[in-house]
Amino acid sequence: MHARVAAATTAALLGGAVLILPSPHAKAGDRITAPLVVSHRGASAYAPENTLAAIDHAAALGFDWVENDVQRTRDGRLVVLHDASLARTTDVAKVYPGRSPWKVKDFTAAEIARLDAGSWFGPRFAGARVPTLREYMEGVSRNHQKLVLEIKNPELYPGIERQTLRLLSNEGWLDPVHLRNRLIVQSFSAASVRTVHDLRPGITTAFLGTPPVAQLPRYARFADQINADHRSLSAGYVSAVHALHGPHGPMKVFAWTVDDAATARRMAGFGTDGVITNVPDVIRRALR
Ligand code: G3P
Ligand code: CA
Repeated sequence: MHARVAAATTAALLGGAVLILPSPHAKAGDRITAPLVVSHRGASAYAPENTLAAIDHAAALGFDWVENDVQRTRDGRLVVLHDASLARTTDVAKVYPGRSPWKVKDFTAAEIARLDAGSWFGPRFAGARVPTLREYMEGVSRNHQKLVLEIKNPELYPGIERQTLRLLSNEGWLDPVHLRNRLIVQSFSAASVRTVHDLRPGITTAFLGTPPVAQLPRYARFADQINADHRSLSAGYVSAVHALHGPHGPMKVFAWTVDDAATARRMAGFGTDGVITNVPDVIRRALR
């Protein structure tokens, strides 16, 4: 097991460098590792979020872990988009002016496929599309990447967990190799995370949020990770999570959305296992 760099760890910020001393509980042979860096919605500071361009950019920067958001169209297709509405990240208001508030769930996959999901970000991304989850998984596979898949707004999409797992299975993502170290499924909905765990106990799961410490043992029954807003974390909280065992071993903590060097070093000092960031290259430099 890796030594945890958490409450019991002393982290001293010295002129931009982080000094991480091992926990007194560390055993000989334990390794101390910097947090894993996950590209949030792809490398979304540099390319339009949740598009194939965003995961390709992450790959070009040398990052294998990416994060996305999965929702469902009116005709039952899974697509990758963050907001419940298409308005912020596509030209839907121009293409379908009479259909405000442009909810994903009110549009068919064919209608969404017509939209430009790149121009809002920059002219060189004009023509980027909202990927279907199938297209997205093919892109991630092509890039030899690993995925933190978020089931977004599951209350809007009954049965989305089973449907997502079916697609992942069809794409070869539920075999032992992928389950071991290439896939994490997360949600802000504890019920959704529990459903994923119950359907396929082999999947590594994460709850998005910061449950009270007293409730953490309940989450440990179905979640391997607590993925928390960095502003809600402390060394003590990280340590409390690390003390628990989830379905597949000691629980972990990923922090989001960590976009500056000082916060990244602070999270490393707390002993977080991962940081989710829009600027993976900046964070890699900070943690080097
Ligand atoms: O992966 C964590 C993060 O994605 C959760 O927030 O709103 O960006 O989906 P959000
Ligand atoms: Ca997300």
